[in-house]
Amino acid sequence: MGLAGAMHGKSLATAHLAWDNGDGVAVPDLARIPAGPGVDEGRTLSAIEDRLRTGRVGALYIEPIHGTSLGWEGTAGFYQDVRTLATRFATLLVYDEVLTGFHRTGERFRFLRHGIAPDVIVFGKACGNGFPVAGVAVRQDIALSPRMLLGSTFSNNPLAAAAVHATIDCLDSLDPEALVGRIESTVRRHLPDLVAGPAPRMRGSGAMWVIALDTPEQALASVQALRRAGVCVGFHGRQLRLLPPLTVRPDRLERACSAIADVLRGQLVAGG
Ligand SMILES: Cc1ncc(COP(=O)(O)O)c(C=O)c1O
Repeated sequence: MGLAGAMHGKSLATAHLAWDNGDGVAVPDLARIPAGPGVDEGRTLSAIEDRLRTGRVGALYIEPIHGTSLGWEGTAGFYQDVRTLATRFATLLVYDEVLTGFHRTGERFRFLRHGIAPDVIVFGKACGNGFPVAGVAVRQDIALSPRMLLGSTFSNNPLAAAAVHATIDCLDSLDPEALVGRIESTVRRHLPDLVAGPAPRMRGSGAMWVIALDTPEQALASVQALRRAGVCVGFHGRQLRLLPPLTVRPDRLERACSAIADVLRGQLVAGG
């Protein structure tokens, strides 16, 4: 079971779990629960509970901040209720920290902000600082199936392990929470209008922000204008995504944020 709008990967199963990739292929036994901006948290919790009552749910997947769906994040109370439900129905709570993990939003993992402990964490990206590596951490008392094969093509790679070690050593020497806090305050200072109001255009935390424009055309025009200004921003549909590195030079971040503010002001005024 997953929440609509979360992104857990591009394989057939992970895509069907949460993120509608519109391919029209049905994958049985995966439940996608309505969630996100505009969906009441109570409604999402009831839908989760109804599904858990079937007794046929092995795991509930959570992406703590929806990196490809408007940067949505529920309240801490929502995740605490999710934790209670998963425990009550003996379902594993899996946190996908692939994007949020290793200090992207401040703490080492986002679940710490939610005040709960998942049963399983999936991580990748920042832990290798660019080296392709990912991992799964499982609560110690959960037995792994003895039928599981001993290895696979890319598992137990010593070079990947060395890259993760070196990255963690470097992170530990950097005071990542302070650096991420500085990134967040720079982003908020340059784009205050976007984070304001009950339906903000920009959602996120720390060094991870998603900005919603009105149309994909506006998003594309913004990205092109930003590129001309020397700023590279990722986008998907009508959303732009800001993922500055922890070590971004403060003057470069200032320059990028001020270009983003100028370009978006122009786009939003032009779009009415
Ligand atoms: C939250 C999240 N989970 C999982 C993945 C892994 O997806 P894939 O391995 O298909 O690239 C990503 C990749 O972007 C991600 O952002």
